[in-house]
Amino acid sequence: MRIIILGPPGAGKGTQAKLLSSHYGIPHISTGDIIREEIKRNTVLGVKIRGYVERGELVPDEDVIEIVKEKILLGNCGRGFVLDGFPRTIIQAKALDHILSGMGLRIDAVINLVVNEEELVRRISGRRICRSCGATYHLLFNPPEKDLKCSVCGGELYQRIDDMEETVRRRVRIYNIETKPLIGYYEEKGLLINVNGVGDINSVFSEILRKLGS
Ligand code: AP5
Ligand code: MG
Ligand code: ZN
Repeated sequence: MRIIILGPPGAGKGTQAKLLSSHYGIPHISTGDIIREEIKRNTVLGVKIRGYVERGELVPDEDVIEIVKEKILLGNCGRGFVLDGFPRTIIQAKALDHILSGMGLRIDAVINLVVNEEELVRRISGRRICRSCGATYHLLFNPPEKDLKCSVCGGELYQRIDDMEETVRRRVRIYNIETKPLIGYYEEKGLLINVNGVGDINSVFSEILRKLGS
């Protein structure tokens, strides 16, 4: 199963990708998570791309393509993968096609999570993430069991630096310009599956599984 999850910032890509990853037993590849890890570890790449992420802008195509290529080639992807946050530009989508066709593989489905902008801002402003294990919460919609501690590992929860309202709105603007054209790109290939992303997390997940036909 090789799946892409498309959708604007805050649509629930990470939330649904984690569920799909454990349902199918395939790796969850989130370019956002990988990039944040590079920044945290202060690697050469992390230092180069920090500013883009903090401003809510896209990191250069060549850097993310390299990251994903390495993951797909070296990662544990024999049974497939869930791609979250990649591709995000037509250039990235074409590069992905090229990487996969070189391996005799192709994408099976592209899930497009549809959520309106006000809901996106509401979701992102309440989002908190575990510093230790990366679990994602929402103060109102998906709260941790104990005040500001991770329900999985007890770790401390933090707010992403690019989650301030003004930066979120910029991310949505950039999504509309750079990433939205991918909807047409995958529709033409007959791979696009639109899913209403508004509703509770489990019903969105059931809808995805139903549309994937399993
Ligand atoms: P990235 O980390 O991919 O951020 P994003 O696309 O902006 O998306 P988010 O992670 O903010 O949202 P999500 O859709 O995963 O939602 P989530 O499940 O957390 O990218 C960050 C940055 O990295 C980019 O700005 C860019 O700089 C760089 N980057 C990454 N990939 C790149 C690429 N390919 N090219 C170039 N640059 C790249 O959910 C959000 C909140 O809502 C959570 O609190 C969650 O608990 C809650 N929630 C989820 N589902 C529901 C629901 N059904 N009902 C109520 N609440 C819900
Ligand atoms: Mg995410
Ligand atoms: Zn945790």
